[in-house]
Amino acid sequence: MSYHWFKIFEKEKNEEDYLQQNTFINFEFKSEKICVTRTEKGLFAFGDRCPHNGARLSQGFCTKKNEIVCPLHRYSFDLETGKATSGGAFALKLYPVKIQEDGVYVGIAAKWWES
Ligand code: FES
Repeated sequence: MSYHWFKIFEKEKNEEDYLQQNTFINFEFKSEKICVTRTEKGLFAFGDRCPHNGARLSQGFCTKKNEIVCPLHRYSFDLETGKATSGGAFALKLYPVKIQEDGVYVGIAAKWWES
C-alpha cells in the first residue's frame, strides 16, 4: 500500500513542545479528519470520528492502557491495534506515523487511482 505522507512536526525532539502527553492535535488532510495524540507508548494518529456513532474522539481521553475513550458512550479503542476494548465490535481507523530526522509524518493511504 502506498501513502501520502504529511509532516506534522518539524523534528522529533520538538514533539513535546507541540503535543503534551495525552492531549490531542487535529489535522485535516485530503478531507480526512485526523487526531494525533502522544502517550507513554508513542505517537498515534487516528480518525477523529468514533466508529460507533460518529462522536469526535478528540473530545475524549486516553487511558493508562493506551486506549482512547469516546466522550459520548465511553467505548474505548486500543491505539496500537484500533480494536475496541469495550463496547461493540468496532474498529478505530488508524494512520501510520513515521518519525524521521527532518520531522514526524502521518500517512494517508493513496487511493487506487493515485498509485
Ligand atoms: S459515539 Fe463513540 S461510543 Fe458511541
